[in-house]
Amino acid sequence: MPLVPTLDTPIGEIAAAIPASVTVFERLRLDFCCGGSKNLEDAARRAGQDPAAVLGEIQGLTREPDARDWTEAELGELLDHIISTHHLYLKEAMPRLWSLAAKVSEVHGERHPEIRELRREMSGLFGELEPHMMKEEQILFPLIRAIADQGWEATAAQGSPEAPMRVMEMEHENAGKVLKRMRQLAGDYRPPEDACATFRALYSGLEEMEQDVHRHIHLENNILHPRVRDLGAKTV
Ligand SMILES: [Fe+2]
Ligand SMILES: [Fe+2]
Repeated sequence: MPLVPTLDTPIGEIAAAIPASVTVFERLRLDFCCGGSKNLEDAARRAGQDPAAVLGEIQGLTREPDARDWTEAELGELLDHIISTHHLYLKEAMPRLWSLAAKVSEVHGERHPEIRELRREMSGLFGELEPHMMKEEQILFPLIRAIADQGWEATAAQGSPEAPMRVMEMEHENAGKVLKRMRQLAGDYRPPEDACATFRALYSGLEEMEQDVHRHIHLENNILHPRVRDLGAKTV
């Protein structure tokens, strides 16, 4: 069940359940780590912030589930959705998770060596996802937009999207494998008994990222690419 935060919810619980809240708490200097058992209202007052305003900001972070039928929408809309939802999410989440992992590994790396391995996997994954999204945004998606607007034949001189789509699919497969290894290393993202709020925020953040990347890859592999191939098949 997703957490619906109120002024009474312990701030540590909010930080764990809604990973993006950590950025807000850090900016507003709310103590979510050692003072994690205080409720949101108390933590906000101690930091000299308006509790209702902080709660409003946190509630705004909980993302709407993706209920739209993307098999019917305009291709351009689907591309906009992928960029504004999933690419944007990753660009925000990757540096946030990376700095959480650095903190956790510094404090708990001795007792939890799995965190160090997890960081190595994260480094590999993030190092691939960044150029991957750049290739989509700069090469593949503009080509798909041109095909959707002008038709497959009119854009033939720009090359076929088949080769870049295959490369993207190979990279998706690799990302999926790394995510599986990360989940194994992190014991299904169940934090150990002695985990602090930062440790918990890292695990729930990584789990949220995994879910988002799964949905993201699903949209590209199972909806976007087949629809582009269909357009090509119709013109032959
Ligand atoms: Fe993508
Ligand atoms: Fe992709």
